[in-house]
Amino acid sequence: MSHFSLEAVFPLLVVLLVFLVGGVFFAATGLLEPFSMGEAAQTSTQPDSLSQAHLTALDSTSQIVAMTPEQAEAVAAGDALFKGNCAQCHAVNDVVVGPALSGLAKRRPEKWLLSWVKNSSKVVASGDEYAVRIFNQYGKQQMPSFQLSDLEIRQILAYVKSEEGWASAAGNAVAVIN
Ligand code: HEC
Repeated sequence: MSHFSLEAVFPLLVVLLVFLVGGVFFAATGLLEPFSMGEAAQTSTQPDSLSQAHLTALDSTSQIVAMTPEQAEAVAAGDALFKGNCAQCHAVNDVVVGPALSGLAKRRPEKWLLSWVKNSSKVVASGDEYAVRIFNQYGKQQMPSFQLSDLEIRQILAYVKSEEGWASAAGNAVAVIN
């Protein structure tokens, strides 16, 4: 009796085995990935939507920065100006030749920052206590004067603010609110 039933079940076992081996093979070659990855795969196909899946995909150190299109534009312009004029000596979150610029808005009023970037030695020469202190602290190294407009300097400050506290650009999301 056992002999008979084994014969009946055997083809089924073979079919089952083919499916199992086939499944493992396809999974290993990545062909089943779009199905098995589920949510993660879906989010990468719609990078523009800030869906719940995106939010949960960010780790705990990430932040969402909400910006209007105007702010995003100012930050982008500031980014370019910063790279072209300041990045050789400054980073936002690290000391390079000059101080890390993060937290600037809390340290100094905007008016001071505008005069400083335009002509830092003039501010130091005026006897401004803060200016003299950082000038001495950074080995009396004179920062160059920049022919930048108030608008351009504000754009750089907007860029600095947008980068503050970010350990790295990766892992953060900027939501542009229309
Ligand atoms: C050649 C190097 C160099 C370049 C380029 C440079 N800086 Fe500086 N910066 C310094 C140094 C050095 C200091 C420290 C003060 C000093 O020694 O005068 C400083 C200080 C500052 C401070 C004061 C920081 C604080 O913590 O109070 C600000 C603001 C600043 N720089 C902004 C800028 C901006 C904006 C640019 C680009 C437009 C720029 N710097 C380009 C070298 C530079």
